[in-house]
Amino acid sequence: MSARQIWIVDFGSQYTQLITRKSRELGYSSEIITVKKAREFFKEGKRPNALVLSGGPQSVFEDDTNYDFVFDNKDLPILGVCYGMQLMGKYFGGVVEKGTIGEYGHAKIHLLNGFKMDGVPDEVNVWMSHSDHISKLPKDFDLVMESANGLVSAIEHKERPMMGLQFHPEVEHSEHGKDILNHFFKDVAKLEKDWDATEMLEEAKDLVRGIEKSKVLCAFSGGVDSLVAAQLSHEVIGDNLYCFFVDHGLLRPQDYNHIEILKEKTNLNIEVIDVKDEFMANLKGKSDPEDKRKAIGKTFIDVFEKKVKEYQDSHDINFEYLLQGTLYPDVIESISPHEEDGKSVTIKSHHNVGGLPERMNLKLLEPLRYLFKDEVRKMGEELGLEHGWVHRHPFPGPGIGIRVLGELTETRIAQVQQSDQILFEELHANNLYQSTWQALTVLLPVKTVGVKGDGRAYEEVICLRMVNSSDGMTATWTDMPHAFLSRVSSRITNEVKGITRVVYDITSKPPGTIEWE
Ligand code: XMP
Repeated sequence: MSARQIWIVDFGSQYTQLITRKSRELGYSSEIITVKKAREFFKEGKRPNALVLSGGPQSVFEDDTNYDFVFDNKDLPILGVCYGMQLMGKYFGGVVEKGTIGEYGHAKIHLLNGFKMDGVPDEVNVWMSHSDHISKLPKDFDLVMESANGLVSAIEHKERPMMGLQFHPEVEHSEHGKDILNHFFKDVAKLEKDWDATEMLEEAKDLVRGIEKSKVLCAFSGGVDSLVAAQLSHEVIGDNLYCFFVDHGLLRPQDYNHIEILKEKTNLNIEVIDVKDEFMANLKGKSDPEDKRKAIGKTFIDVFEKKVKEYQDSHDINFEYLLQGTLYPDVIESISPHEEDGKSVTIKSHHNVGGLPERMNLKLLEPLRYLFKDEVRKMGEELGLEHGWVHRHPFPGPGIGIRVLGELTETRIAQVQQSDQILFEELHANNLYQSTWQALTVLLPVKTVGVKGDGRAYEEVICLRMVNSSDGMTATWTDMPHAFLSRVSSRITNEVKGITRVVYDITSKPPGTIEWE
């Protein structure tokens, strides 16, 4: 891909993806590329409308790469963020000083010398995370912003469309960070907006166009990614798309309802494969989380393989492609700045159908591979999918299999299903569903003493877990209203047989993961 007007050269900052997201939210198409790829593109004579040099963990004192190929382009708008600004400073004859104390965390900075940026007040709080800084301005640059302790925070070239920022405008902690980025895109680089839901959808469909006659198989979970991927592909290839929904018996009541609704209200060709017994048989005696995941993953593949054979033998249908809802973060996670361009990791290691394409000789179809989750949601709405469907919480492929700690039995699965049902009924009834990113109940294999009626009970524990997150990589526990927690607890202990105690997990990630197994 290089059809995007902004290229963001990744120097390895943990925030590079955020620059991409923010620029797209502002309406400008962008993509992340490696230094190597940038060099190749420039050599071939390709140029973006604007280039962003990201931050990075290294120091300009350790980088002897020659960046003339970038800075020699006189008309090319360039934004250097943090490390990117220091490269710019060094190249244009400024002095970069190795930091001793560094400036990490919040810093107050202010606009200077009569400079203005739309929507940006004279003084803002921003997020710094670097110790090197520019101590003498590069030639022909103006000082635009300075921190309270006198550090160069923003610079602009007097004639060329270039800007450098010592802080990270892309992170949430930087007040007016988006306005500052917009100042670069709109006023310095003078870009035209080119990114909205219609544009995204057309691009995603382009990845499907050309294979209209092929048979495509989709491991359909009904979650946001598989639903949007399926719906947009269906608009291109119609009923050559076959969505298989595997009922492994480890689903929640809400998942069964959801699939029935999708079958009724969409025009997707969805087949529910009931293989509960097969899964239970393969999980018997397994209590270690990895063993359970492996057994579930393997059974998934067996089920699909059988299904594909069945279609070959009885309907003479040969599948050529596997449709996957792989997103941009999965693709770029594997890119490292100075090396080979990243290849798609294509299937997350914990994805249920990992290994399927090789085994069955299927090609991958990944129409969402350049998009972020928020964009997939927007696109889902553009496709006419209901708001609730595209704003569903994530649900892991192994389902309740990793929420019943230890060995799975029908009774224990039912305990999680019933407690989950209560939790979600209450989330909806109290209008709290969208106040949390993911919500779940876990059955802990711990017996505790309780009193039920007049007697002593010695039963197990349900743990409630609700977290806020943007991508599942990090998370904080959600501070839910006490009255709500109290009601859920009282309903679970009253209505779910075998449960005497309910606890609320107040661990963030890290150190705790979201799931318990
Ligand atoms: P953790 O527990 O790793 O979860 O903090 C992060 C996100 O990933 C989901 N998750 C999974 N999804 N297969 C999946 O498809 C899995 O094996 C799996 N394990 C965790 C989890 O629900 C959360 O959204």
